This record gives sequence, structure tokens and C-alpha cells, in this order.
Amino acid sequence: MQLLTQRAPLLDPIEVASRDEIAALQLARLKSTLRRAYDNIDHYRRAFEALAVHPDDLHSLDDLRKFPFTSKDDLRANYPFGMFAVPREQVVRIHASSGTTGKPTVVGYTKGDIDTWAEVMARSIRAAGGRPGDIIHVAYGYGLFTGGLGAHYGAERLGCTVIPMSGGQTARQVQLINDFRPDLIMVTPSYMLAIGDEFEREGLDPRRSSLRIGMHGAEPWTAAMRHEIEARFDMSALDIYGLSELIGPGVACECIESKDGLHLWEDHFYPEIVDPATGAPLPDGEPGELVLTALTKEALPVVRYRTRDLTRLLPGTARSMRRMEKISGRTDDMLIIRGVNVFPSQIEELILKEPMLSPHYVLEVYRREHLDTLDVVVEARPAPEAHDDQAKQGCAKRLAHAVKAYVGVTVRVRIVDIGEVERSLGKAKRIIDMRPKD
Ligand code: DLL
Repeated sequence: MQLLTQRAPLLDPIEVASRDEIAALQLARLKSTLRRAYDNIDHYRRAFEALAVHPDDLHSLDDLRKFPFTSKDDLRANYPFGMFAVPREQVVRIHASSGTTGKPTVVGYTKGDIDTWAEVMARSIRAAGGRPGDIIHVAYGYGLFTGGLGAHYGAERLGCTVIPMSGGQTARQVQLINDFRPDLIMVTPSYMLAIGDEFEREGLDPRRSSLRIGMHGAEPWTAAMRHEIEARFDMSALDIYGLSELIGPGVACECIESKDGLHLWEDHFYPEIVDPATGAPLPDGEPGELVLTALTKEALPVVRYRTRDLTRLLPGTARSMRRMEKISGRTDDMLIIRGVNVFPSQIEELILKEPMLSPHYVLEVYRREHLDTLDVVVEARPAPEAHDDQAKQGCAKRLAHAVKAYVGVTVRVRIVDIGEVERSLGKAKRIIDMRPKD
């Protein structure tokens, strides 16, 4: 067993293929995706016709920019099953995202799609350093959310022993990690911290747990948060990205040997970066909104999906496929406070520079005297100086000053006691908007 788990991984040939081979495969697959969408889904036929394009107009990868975008609203408008390209009977699984307003977004999978998903997830786990024979603790939620089941099928496909814990029951999470001694954990970064807090509350040192690797995603998190998790658990924390509209987790993942951004599995998902305001395509290296086209999906062949996630594309390093930089935020998570654009991740970086402050924080937006204002509410760490009012005040002042200097916005900082910021069991909610609805 020891030998098996330590053996170097055998990569899929496409992971180390030449760029020409990757491009040729993408072009062939793109043609068939456009065909499938146009022939089988009314929405796409209408959207293509509105722009006077036809699948036969795609001769090169660059021609994709002639085709229409797809948005979350398009999926909602065709709720629940109107975007499926196959008869419903061929759909073996449904997932859905709750959505903050209105109807959920529904996605479907054929048997073949489930197989593709297991493959890209197994590839991701292997890239993150997981090996056949490892024990994997899955603390992403199981159910309509894609995190739990996506991780589960991938771990089984790689030949691992899966513990399908799901989210919640934090004390139980700690007990099972101690008893089953998993090598790898898959969980949102914010809930990983809550698990760390529970270790400490029970007087246990998380650094002594069996965990070697954490695969964290489903929400934005910063490099500072990675250092925090790695130091607290004495393990490697890797970023994994995905979204239900494309497949779920497993669209892109960091490689443990380089830890330099997420390699996008370009044989299944074709990436573009566009200007979020105009939709104009941007060259590699330029920051903008990620747009993805599914290259192999059968039930839901989504074309040019506007993810609203902000990143940029970089050349491959540990693999031939391109990397995407850590997501800096979502276009819809961007606050505009008196004309200044603010992302939670910018504030998170600054919070974690203050030794007295914990990574549990929330941003509250108010309207005071017709002006939008921002409060940073952050928990102190369990250290003796956290009870010293003067030290707290000094720290709050320093943070407000740093936010003004680096982000350009005036904020009020409130340092609160441990446990006062609500913990999430999955995706953390970083913004509480108290402004009156106009
Ligand atoms: O969150 C799938 C997933 C599960 C990914 C587990 C990774 C791990 P959705 O619920 O559809 O799917 O939400 C997708 O979450 O558009 C991003 O805004 C955000 N997101 C996902 N992964 C990351 C990440 C899953 N690594 C939305 N970094 C996406 C930043 C992420 N944001």
C-alpha cells in the first residue's frame, strides 16, 4: 500500500499533449457542441439565428466569438428542463443551485456526463497530490449542490476510500478525522477554518491531524487564507474551481508540484476572458470575466457561459493546459462604495495581515445620510490581547487605515468576540447588504 500511494501519478496523455494537439481536439469538440446545442435546444437555435450565425460558421477557435453568450438568466428562463439537449429520460441526475432570488438554476447529466465529471475530478484530485489508496474526507455538502457528489465520484474513480461526511456537524467532522485518519479533505476554505476552530475548542492540535492535503473551492479565497489554512493544519491547501452550469467542481485545479494557479481542463471546457462591461474578448494575461464553453457535455452543452468570475488566463506550467489565476471575486460581489470598487478578497488580505484578527469576517453595507458606507466586522483571535480594549482599538484603526490606503475606501472596523460572525457550513456569505431596496 505504501508503495502504491507513493508512486508517481500517471497523467492522462492530453495533460501533457502539445498545444497544437489540444487546439485540434478543442476545435473538433467545439463544432460538435455548437451542433448539438443548435439542433436540440430551442434557446440556442433562436439565439444563433438572432446573431445570424450557424454552427457551420466555426472554422477556427477564434470564430467562437461570433456566437452568443449564455447567462444564468437564460437557464432560469428555460426552467426547469428547457436547456437539455437530450430527452429527459436520458438524464440520470439533476443538480440545482439555490440562487438568491427567484428560481434555482437546474442542470442535468447523462450517464456519459457523470463519467466525464468523475474523470475530471479524479484528474483534479491527482493533480492536488491525491493517490489511489488515499482516504478522502468529503465535507462539501451532498445533495442538489454539486460539491459533495462531484468530489465523491472523482475520489472513487481515482481508487480512494471516500468518507461521505457532507457539511455540518462540526464536532463529528473532527471526531471522524481523528478516527479515520484521512490523507485528504475536500471542503470550502471557510468551513475548513470552522473545523480548525473546533479542533482547538476540543483542545486538539489540528497540526497533528493526519491530513496532508486540502482541496478548497466553491467560494473566493485569498493567498493569505491559503497560508492561514496551511499553517493551522500543517498541510498543503490547493484551489479547485468549478460551477454547476459547466459540470460542478473539477473545471480547473491547482497542481501540488507548482501551486501557481489552477490548470483548466481545456479538453472539456473552453475558456475565454472578456471585458465584463462590453463582452469584448481579451487576450491571455489580461484580467476580466471568465467565459466557458462545455466541449463534451451531452445533456447541457452550454455555449459561452458568462461565469461572472474574475481572473486571467496564463500559460501552462505543470501541465500543457492553460492556468487561470485565483479568482479575485465575482462581478456581482463587487461593491461600489462612493465610486470605489471593492471586493471582499481585498479586505480579506488586509485582515489577515493583522495577527490579532481571525479570518472570520463579514462586510456590512449601510446607507447613512444617502451615502453608502461599509463596516468590516471581524472576529479577534483567541489571544489574551483580544480582551484589551486599547489593543483592539489600535488594531481596528490600523485596519481601517490599510483599507483606505490600499483599497481607497473609508470603512468602520468592528472587532467582535469569537463566535459572533456567523459560520457557514458551505459557502461563506461575506456581504450583508443593509441598504434599503429602491
Ligand atoms: O461551487 C462547484 C464547486 C464545488 C467548486 C466544490 C469547487 C468545489 P456552484 O454552486 O454552481 O458550483 O457555484 C459556482 O462558485 O461561479 C464561483 O463564483 C464560485 N467558485 C467555485 N470555485 C471557486 C474557487 C460550485 N475555487 C461558483 N474560487 C463559481 C473562487 C469559486 N470561487
